[in-house]
Amino acid sequence: MGSAENNLDTYWMPFTANRDFKSKPRVITGASGHYYTTEDGNKLYDTFSGLWTSGVGHCHPKIVEAVQKQVATLDYCMTFQLTNNKAIELAERVTDIAPNGINHCFFANSGSESVDTALKIALGYHRAKGEGNRTRLIGRERGYHGVNFGGMSVGGMVPNRKAFSANLVPGVDHIRHTHDIERNAFTRGLPLHGVELANDLERLCALHDGSNIAAVIVEPVAGSTGVLPPPVGYLKRLREICDQHGILLIFDEVITAFGRLGAPFAAERFGVTPDIITTAKGLTNGVIPMSAVLVRDSVYDAFMHGPEKIIELFHGYTYSGHPVAAAAGLATMDVYDEEGMFEQASGLEQHFEDLLHSFKDQKHVVDVRNFGLMGAIEMAPRDGAAGMRGFEIHKKCFWEENMVVRNGMDVLQFSPFLNSDPDEMEQSFAGIRRVLDSIE
Ligand SMILES: Cc1ncc(COP(=O)(O)O)c(C=O)c1O
Repeated sequence: MGSAENNLDTYWMPFTANRDFKSKPRVITGASGHYYTTEDGNKLYDTFSGLWTSGVGHCHPKIVEAVQKQVATLDYCMTFQLTNNKAIELAERVTDIAPNGINHCFFANSGSESVDTALKIALGYHRAKGEGNRTRLIGRERGYHGVNFGGMSVGGMVPNRKAFSANLVPGVDHIRHTHDIERNAFTRGLPLHGVELANDLERLCALHDGSNIAAVIVEPVAGSTGVLPPPVGYLKRLREICDQHGILLIFDEVITAFGRLGAPFAAERFGVTPDIITTAKGLTNGVIPMSAVLVRDSVYDAFMHGPEKIIELFHGYTYSGHPVAAAAGLATMDVYDEEGMFEQASGLEQHFEDLLHSFKDQKHVVDVRNFGLMGAIEMAPRDGAAGMRGFEIHKKCFWEENMVVRNGMDVLQFSPFLNSDPDEMEQSFAGIRRVLDSIE
């Protein structure tokens, strides 16, 4: 086999402009702590902790050791009518730090799978309770819930849906998104305006009749669409409306769980408890693919009726509760605990916010947003070339500043490590400023 350039064409890359990429590839061959290394030995600072995944840093020795040990002890085990000790332990560890009343955990392998699992659980729950008419699923414009058919359908990111428009799951509707740049631009933390947008759910309850709606799914802080923190009071209001109409509330915490907001879950940070929580990424620090759907006792209990020898939920994946992934998850939970990761994350919030908002008067910047350790700098799009300014910044950061910076179209997104070094953070933003100074 030759170098990456020789065989790269075989590899169809996800969410990538393949032809542009392959003309000048950016290939990572190693990582340690807060840095990646490239084929030619360059060290790159990672401003995105993987893809919102690797909060405690790359190749954390404790997680590496746990994976090495587990793969040599129990490499795989069927989890249909059989299971493994690590999956049992991890379910308990994760629900231990979940909000009160959420004590059950179903494993899958990715955020997308956890979302589709959660939607199926919601439908199954109502059916089990004799309300099989509750089949409607409500998402939110600009929401991102992965790329499988269920998640794509409740999601609200137009480029992800456009090519599949006729094949989206039926019976789905969307409430309005909360982005209001006119009233909330450059807000530090939660926007003050927009709580009333939660009432859009009442509009859909009036339209479809609330008794037909199974669940509402939202990201507590929308991430992939460009970091949209919820307006003050918004999530509480959604909870109230769901309660009034018997609708399940699902928080998609694939990004926000495990310390990104300085707490185990966004639910805890916001003081709003949903009925179902989806997680992935930080569950194993991104080391092994794994996701978990956490559900309230009342949801789980609804399934535990009928003949005991009959499977209650006809759903699961070959790799649900994979022992090596679960071992990575357990070691990750240990690191969160032992190194006070969530507290470290809280301690960094102010510094991160100050650094981000120092870009307020920068050329082309139209908004800066942040909450917890999630942040975004939104650039104005170029005329007729939306996304190209952001893409150029991503590439310049890589080639000229030895940094990985994520852009979603023209929005630069930031997901610092939970244990970031404040000086490194500062240096990385100095590099970003040099790049922003240099682009048109
Ligand atoms: C909120 C949310 N849900 C679901 C997903 C999909 O996760 P995956 O890419 O692991 O399928 C993501 C990915 O970024 C996400 O941010």
